[in-house]
Amino acid sequence: MKLHTKAVHAGDRKKPPQAIPMTTPIVTASSYLYENTEMLDRVFAGEIDDFAYARYGTPTATALEELVTALENGHGSLATSSGMGALQIALQTALTDRRHSVVAATALYGATFRMLTSVFEPMGVEVRYADVCDLDGLKQAIDEAKPGCVLMETISNPLLRVGQIDRIAEMSRAAGAVLLVDNTFATPLLVRPIELGAHMVVHSLTKYLAGHGDVLGGAVTTDEANFPTLRALSKTCGPNLGAFESYLSMRGIKTFPLRMERQCANACRIATSLASHPKVAKVYFPSDPNHPDAETIRRLLPEGLYGAMVSFEIKDAARPEVFAFMDKLKLVLKGTSLGDVQSLLLYPAISSHRDLSPKQRERMGIRDSLVRLSAGIEAAEDILADLEQALG
Ligand SMILES: Cc1ncc(COP(=O)(O)O)c(C=O)c1O
Repeated sequence: MKLHTKAVHAGDRKKPPQAIPMTTPIVTASSYLYENTEMLDRVFAGEIDDFAYARYGTPTATALEELVTALENGHGSLATSSGMGALQIALQTALTDRRHSVVAATALYGATFRMLTSVFEPMGVEVRYADVCDLDGLKQAIDEAKPGCVLMETISNPLLRVGQIDRIAEMSRAAGAVLLVDNTFATPLLVRPIELGAHMVVHSLTKYLAGHGDVLGGAVTTDEANFPTLRALSKTCGPNLGAFESYLSMRGIKTFPLRMERQCANACRIATSLASHPKVAKVYFPSDPNHPDAETIRRLLPEGLYGAMVSFEIKDAARPEVFAFMDKLKLVLKGTSLGDVQSLLLYPAISSHRDLSPKQRERMGIRDSLVRLSAGIEAAEDILADLEQALG
């Protein structure tokens, strides 16, 4: 063989060894080969569950999907290129063969709200918003809108409200709607929405599950009934997560429960300490006995695991004072994400809720003095010392 031919073929396409690798390898191949064409034909036909083309599935993403399905106790999962990619295909799945109408929680991640208003509404999907913590109001919205999908987050951002997923699932089922829950903030360590009756769950893997600030990814997990539609849409639209990111996500997830336990414990200590700080006007944290959803939290969240986000208002602070506080932070990073091993602090007025007018933010209870902290895995004393010195 000539050098040019050897360069293309030598060393590749070896028969897999008998030994099983300890961890799932990164398989980047876009096509898969079979010794006879009949086998390939049967794989394409779906008669044999194996790989043919990467948009239909790869060994690395499939392993991650199995892992996420196990964590969420669902029927099957799809790993996607981002959390927003997961939300898009999940909403499309929910609305296939159902009424093109969504009842969405008023408190949603900003980009999710934008997706509803700038992608789904222009395509003719009716969207109505309701406070999912007010069951009577939500029922009225569902009765009037007759939605194909009800969309909510387990723990809302940034005020950390907690809706009754089990009751909302009953209401959605009775109305013939799919309940789709974004479980990014709670993670399956705290809540597994499918066990509570939800049909579909989405994650931004970018956050707690991958956990190290080095992956952009998402996942959709569904019950048995919705999985074939999700798979069929994914085979056509191709929102798949790449092999490298799938590998990194799997690697991250191995320590996710340990990280999350630590992050939840740190958040509890931070919330308790800030509650008595003279420069802090108000702390939002689910362990607060005066939390507006305290009863639901007691019922649905495990004791001591209240999530790792703490939001708080700085006393008498407007934008300049908040900027000054943030610029004094030395350990806590001013990062726009959450759920990483490092503690991160975000100012909703200039980031997640920037697109809203000050009046809209005020109406949602998001004041200009409010900041949101994602507790990392550092020693709680060090995080607290940094917050104290920055509060002055
Ligand atoms: C609750 C929630 N859902 C979805 C997303 C979107 O995830 P991604 O940035 O991976 O697309 C985010 C991102 O911050 C989020 O906070």
